[in-house]
Amino acid sequence: MTTTNQYAIVTGASRGLGKEYVSELARRGINIILVSLPGEELDVFSLEISLRYSVKTHYYETDLSVNKNVLDLADWVNQHFEVFLLINNAGTGGSRAFLQASAQYITTIIQLNIMATSVLTRQLLPNLIRQPQAYILNVSSMAAFFPIGFKTVYPASKSFVYSFSRGLNEELSGTNVFVSVVNPGPLKTSLEIAARIDKQGLFAKLGLIEPHTFAQKSMDKLFQKYAVIVLNPFSLLFLRLIPSRVRVPLMTNVIKRELYV
Ligand SMILES: NC(=O)c1ccc[n+]([C@@H]2O[C@H](COP(=O)([O-])OP(=O)(O)OC[C@H]3O[C@@H](n4cnc5c(N)ncnc54)[C@H](OP(=O)(O)O)[C@@H]3O)[C@@H](O)[C@H]2O)c1
Repeated sequence: MTTTNQYAIVTGASRGLGKEYVSELARRGINIILVSLPGEELDVFSLEISLRYSVKTHYYETDLSVNKNVLDLADWVNQHFEVFLLINNAGTGGSRAFLQASAQYITTIIQLNIMATSVLTRQLLPNLIRQPQAYILNVSSMAAFFPIGFKTVYPASKSFVYSFSRGLNEELSGTNVFVSVVNPGPLKTSLEIAARIDKQGLFAKLGLIEPHTFAQKSMDKLFQKYAVIVLNPFSLLFLRLIPSRVRVPLMTNVIKRELYV
C-alpha cells in the first residue's frame, strides 16, 4: 500500500493508545515517525519497533503544547520525509473542579488538544496532498458529544477535534487526503486511567474496549474511509437516547464520584 519512502507520523507515541497505533502500523509494514514528550524512552521504543517489524522508524521528542515546537516539528518532517498518514493522538485532560484547575492546566489542554492538532495538520497538509493517497486520523473522544461537569474544558476541546475533522474532510473531498475522526469511549491505556474508569462505576465500563483492539479496528476503519469512527456505537446510542437535561447531571455525577468517592 505504501512505498518504502512513505511514513506515518503518530503523536503521543510513547504510551497508551499512541503506542498501540505505532505497533499496529508497524505490523502492517508501515514506516513511522514517533513523537512524544522528552524523557519517555522514545528512542528505545522506536528502535524496538524498527527491529521487530523491519520498518523504518524515526523519533522526535517535543512538547506539542508549545506552538513553536509544533512548527519546528512540521518543518523537520517536511524537510526529511514523505508523509501519507498523520495520527493526531496526543491529548490531555482529566477531572477537576473548575475552580481548582490552574490557568496552566486549562491552557495546556487547549494548546495540545486544539492548537497542536489543527496547526500540525495545516503544516503537514502540503506534504500529505502530494502523496497518491493520504489520511489524517484525529483522536477525539466520546466526550465530544456530551458536556460534562468536572471535565468541562476536555469535552469541549474534543468537540473542536470532532467538528474540525468533519469540516476539513468535507473541504478536502475531491483531493487525495481523507480525514477521519475517532471517538473512543473509556480505554484502560494506563494504570492511572484504569483506576479512574473503575471509580466511575458501571456507567463508564459500558462498551470498554481493549486499547490494542481499539487501535487495530480504528485503523481498519480509517483505511476503509469512515469519516467518523465509533467502535462502541451502542454506548453512544444509549447516551444519546437519554434527554440532555437528565444526561448532563448524570454524567457530571459520575465524574464527581471519581473525584470525591
Ligand atoms: N484513555 C481514554 O479513556 C481515552 C478516551 C477517549 C479519548 N482518549 C484520547 O486518546 C488519546 C490518547 O489517550 P491515552 O489514554 O493513550 O493518553 P496517555 O496514556 O496519557 O498518552 C498520551 C500521549 O500523549 C503524549 N503527550 C502528552 N502531553 C504531550 C505534550 N505536551 N506534547 C507531546 N506529547 C504529549 C504523551 O507523551 P509522554 O508519554 O511523553 O507524556 C503520551 O504519549 C488522547 O487524545 C485522549 O484524549 C482517551
